[in-house]
Amino acid sequence: MSTIGATRVREFPDTTWADDGPTRGVEAVVEAGEVLRFPYLPFALIESELRFRDPRWADGKAKNISLRWGGNQPDGNRPDGEMRGAAGTPAELAGLKAMITRYADQAEAFALRLFPHYRGHLRRGNTSFRPVDVAGRETSWRQDDTRLHVDAFPSNPMHGTRLLRVFCNVNPSGRAREWRVGEPFEAHAKRYLPMIQRPWPGSAWLLEKTGITKRRRTEYDHVMLQLHDRAKADADFQRNSPQARAAFAPGTTWVVFSDQVLHAAMGGQHMLEQTFYLDVADQQEPTTSPRSTLERLLGRELR
Ligand SMILES: [Fe+2]
Repeated sequence: MSTIGATRVREFPDTTWADDGPTRGVEAVVEAGEVLRFPYLPFALIESELRFRDPRWADGKAKNISLRWGGNQPDGNRPDGEMRGAAGTPAELAGLKAMITRYADQAEAFALRLFPHYRGHLRRGNTSFRPVDVAGRETSWRQDDTRLHVDAFPSNPMHGTRLLRVFCNVNPSGRAREWRVGEPFEAHAKRYLPMIQRPWPGSAWLLEKTGITKRRRTEYDHVMLQLHDRAKADADFQRNSPQARAAFAPGTTWVVFSDQVLHAAMGGQHMLEQTFYLDVADQQEPTTSPRSTLERLLGRELR
């Protein structure tokens, strides 16, 4: 495994989520496609929440328990969170929802401290709790997140909107969340762009008309999906491309633009994750975005 040319993981000393932590104003670091790791920043569970670290709370249909907020849609607003994928009595579910909501609130306060430039622009997407072991999942190659990939979704075109994610490992038995991180986005784009054809005329209209996509799939979305699929389908790339292992021990929080950083989840159980959306124009340096990078390499706009 080659580690030369792999994405950097940068470590920070913060021990609190709120405003009194030392790290702030690190937009340039996260926008450069680095992983921000906070090894001393646990999400504290209260006594009655310790029981939730058990796969029995997942209803078996979804791989995660998720809270959905209105900001889930790139153009949405924010009503109260709706919980999906959990099984339990109403009282138990209320307790589970309170825990996940507290994580969402702390992750949001934390993100706004780290990235003051994003204040007023960051939109809250899904919060997810993953009590199921990564290793036990049976999936198709396209859904197999143990293969290096950038995040892109067939049914949910992002139109370039950024995906910022705050993860925290809450494993009770000392088990790390194991990731591989891959090559920087620009190198990755250069690897596959020559093989990616333009979408055929009318395909975006048809995908939207038939309900396969929630809104129009732009050429940007088409290219990002192609990058996602080609990387996952390429066994040689998975084995031999520049990459490094990153272990996130329990009590560790990490922050990443997951539409930019090549990542693969190799192992672990019991994690919380908060997604935020950010428009490219609201970045500190919009030219670092995947959309700007792809447009520069292709020499045209991807709208
Ligand atoms: Fe992913």
